[in-house]
Amino acid sequence: MNLLLATHNTNKRKELKALLEDFKDVKIMILDDLKVEPPIIVEDGKTFRQNAVKKALTLSRFFDGLVLADDSGLEISALGGKPGVRSARFARAKATDQENNQKVLKLLASIPENNRSARFVCYLALASGGKLLETFEGEAKGVILETPRGKRGFGYDPLFLPKGKDKSFAEMPASEKNKISHRARALKKMRSALKKHLRQR
Ligand code: IMP
Repeated sequence: MNLLLATHNTNKRKELKALLEDFKDVKIMILDDLKVEPPIIVEDGKTFRQNAVKKALTLSRFFDGLVLADDSGLEISALGGKPGVRSARFARAKATDQENNQKVLKLLASIPENNRSARFVCYLALASGGKLLETFEGEAKGVILETPRGKRGFGYDPLFLPKGKDKSFAEMPASEKNKISHRARALKKMRSALKKHLRQR
């Protein structure tokens, strides 16, 4: 059984492979493995779920197998949930991680420590043959630091201190982040559903 992960990111494939290690019959592919150019999908949804569903459904019409798409980002309470679906382009289109982080720090400059709560959110959508099978949500709660900490990871990791931890996401080795991240939590929920869908095929 082929499972297409709707991404160009090889790290996401690695993460999924590790999590589905015991699914011996599943071959995980990413968009770069396709022999044909995948359609361009504009992520114009108002929610993470809408974007994940749109990607999974569109690609599942072109692919013989299961398609898994994700959409994720950061929601900051004091900013009414921003940057949200605009996480990747918060400062501007094609913004660097540093520009996005600077914008967040600037907007939160006058916000005290006890009002800097935030969460990372990940939605996954599983589709096949143009039909949506299921969606899954994962979240990681925490607070936004006053100064960036750590060099690992990507995106807003240096600003995010997960609840109950004393290291930011960017100070943790990937193995530690991947146990508690929003994406890991959504993927774990997906595992049992995947078993069911594979049995039904
Ligand atoms: P995507 O869903 O992988 O395209 O992520 C959208 C954007 O959300 C990224 O460009 C990051 O800015 C942010 N983001 C999502 N997940 C993470 C994470 O685990 N750490 C830091 N930033 C993240």
